[in-house]
Amino acid sequence: GATLQAAAARTGRYFGVALAAGKLNDSTYTTIANREFNMVTAENEMKMDATEPNQNQFNFSQGDRILNWATQNGKQVRGHALAWHSQQPGWMQNMSGTQLRNAMLNHVTRVATYYKGKIHSWDVVNEAFADGNGGARRDSNLQRTGDDWIEAAFRAARAADPGAKLCYNDYNTDNWTWDKTQAVYRMVRDFKSRGVPIDCVGFQSHFNAQSAYNSNYRTTLSSFAALGVEVQITELDIEGSGQQQAQTYANVVNDCLAVPACKGITVWGVRDSDSWRSYGTPLLFDNSGNKKEAYTATLNAL
Ligand code: XIL
Repeated sequence: GATLQAAAARTGRYFGVALAAGKLNDSTYTTIANREFNMVTAENEMKMDATEPNQNQFNFSQGDRILNWATQNGKQVRGHALAWHSQQPGWMQNMSGTQLRNAMLNHVTRVATYYKGKIHSWDVVNEAFADGNGGARRDSNLQRTGDDWIEAAFRAARAADPGAKLCYNDYNTDNWTWDKTQAVYRMVRDFKSRGVPIDCVGFQSHFNAQSAYNSNYRTTLSSFAALGVEVQITELDIEGSGQQQAQTYANVVNDCLAVPACKGITVWGVRDSDSWRSYGTPLLFDNSGNKKEAYTATLNAL
């Protein structure tokens, strides 16, 4: 079929997109989203600040707009994200210690319970490792509650929604030679060996000049898969333009297709003008919604 979702489905994979609730009344946007994609991630609407703006007062109105649009159009949904150092509500940013640990676990439990049975995969923990050399955890209020905060979050998510795949999601984990990649790999290996419930690893894959696509991406995906987890490309965008950008999109698709446990690819927005990046043209559709060379290369590679 001549759409991304149909082409991906031929090998049992999904092709997804991040959507913003505020754009669901833009018919150019929704027409493309409905035609091309069969998996949806809320770009911001299921994050901690959106879903628990005041402690223990949950607000799912915006997340539900995304979920309902997806459901009404026959799409599946990736949940993003239950625990993260960023986009925390103000009340949580000022918390620490046992109080914060319990608030985080309560958040994971309540949000995963609310969406129980409706989420294909949850990004349970997002971006918990530091960039650069050394492979350390990222310093954050959550990390300062103790190293075991990540596994505690996964256990709470499993208890709340046993049917959702539980993912660890991060960026700069695509290059197999990087310390950050190796540190996440060791964590996943440790979780699998100790029975901590983890089902998948999400590779955000925001590629630009500083964090460029590397041909060892396929090795990264297959190495994680060998630990017994699914791998998913969760937030793909590629800085650049023209044939060079198109070729990189094709490389990413080919790497996923080469790894049986790579079950899907999500791009982080519809048109270039929808991108979170303040510059550049990193997506598959131009500002007017026309298919770019990157789109054609992606479709042909699938
Ligand atoms: C971004 C959104 O696209 C922006 O709208 C928001 O202002 C900031 O967050 N890694 C992630 C995503 O896991 O949640 C981020 O999304 C992009 C980087």
